[in-house]
Amino acid sequence: MNLRILITGGAGFIGSHVAELLLEQGHDVAVLDDLSSGTKDNLPAGVPVHVADICDRSAVQGIFQQVRPDGVCHQAAQMSVSRSVREPGFDAQTNILGLINVLEGAAAVGAKRITFASSGGVLYGDVDKPAPENAPCSPVSPYGISKWAGEKYLEFFANEHGLSAVALRYSNVYGPRQSPHGEAGVVAIFCRKMLAGEPCLIHGDGGCVRDYVYVGDVARANALALTCPLDSPFTPFNIGTAVGTDVKQLELALRQEFARATGRSAPEPVFGPPRAGDLKSNLICPDAAAAKLGWRSEVDLRKGLPKTFASFAACG
Ligand SMILES: NC(=O)c1ccc[n+]([C@@H]2O[C@H](COP(=O)([O-])OP(=O)(O)OC[C@H]3O[C@@H](n4cnc5c(N)ncnc54)[C@H](O)[C@@H]3O)[C@@H](O)[C@H]2O)c1
Repeated sequence: MNLRILITGGAGFIGSHVAELLLEQGHDVAVLDDLSSGTKDNLPAGVPVHVADICDRSAVQGIFQQVRPDGVCHQAAQMSVSRSVREPGFDAQTNILGLINVLEGAAAVGAKRITFASSGGVLYGDVDKPAPENAPCSPVSPYGISKWAGEKYLEFFANEHGLSAVALRYSNVYGPRQSPHGEAGVVAIFCRKMLAGEPCLIHGDGGCVRDYVYVGDVARANALALTCPLDSPFTPFNIGTAVGTDVKQLELALRQEFARATGRSAPEPVFGPPRAGDLKSNLICPDAAAAKLGWRSEVDLRKGLPKTFASFAACG
């Protein structure tokens, strides 16, 4: 069935991949974005972009009345953990009050389904075995707290306003179009460094383990979560691979890809002091998404790193 979907943050990294996939599947797509980190260039031509801040309640309500979406994919957020520590009020304003504006807009026009970009990386904390959705949530940063509170608001709106809501708890997402300027996108940062002929900086001993999931797989999880029948008004799903890779292994795999793709060698990495607050290990279990959404990651690092490296190399 052809649906009309409004993607908040659709001009960003993940949102633009969701937009591309939904268009390919024949849905109508509109984007709400303040273009603070995203850009219209990330989107296929012709996608309507409503430029507004989700914190501007009346602008958000006006856009919902104009678009009248069947479904909402909420990606817009303040997404830096360290900025959330420096400016917890700004984080809460965007990630909690902005989300409430979006939920009110969705409820006002009778949207049926909302997917919410949550984070398995910050909800479960340090875990050395893949955490399932019912593992205790113990966010330690304001960003983690606002994602956790966001899920609670989703559940409230689902129960109170008949919206069907899905929280997708992503692990570490990587792929083409990720900003290398943020601190979260280690793959993007390393690709840019190697292409500039500079060594990658590894914080600490490089032993921090993460669960890397390819952005195309995350887009597919959003598309399934917007359309799949679900038996509960609110459902959280982990969207990750349960496969751990440490930073040293990731850097080496990218250096090998650099050598294969360019015929040159990239410099050896340099090591700096560990970063305060970096988790030792974070992995999430995606079995519930497999059972209920029919979702599994299809692009592992072996396939995803070459695609990502090629996209950064093509950008020059
Ligand atoms: N990238 C990851 O590894 C990861 C992991 C877990 C969760 N997430 C979540 O996924 C979502 C998308 O992240 P991303 O990596 O694509 O980041 P991104 O910065 O590329 O995309 C965010 C988009 O939201 C827009 N935006 C930001 N603040 C806004 C506001 N106040 N009003 C309207 N638009 C606004 C930005 O312009 C941008 O286009 C975020 O909610 C993030 O917290 C990302």
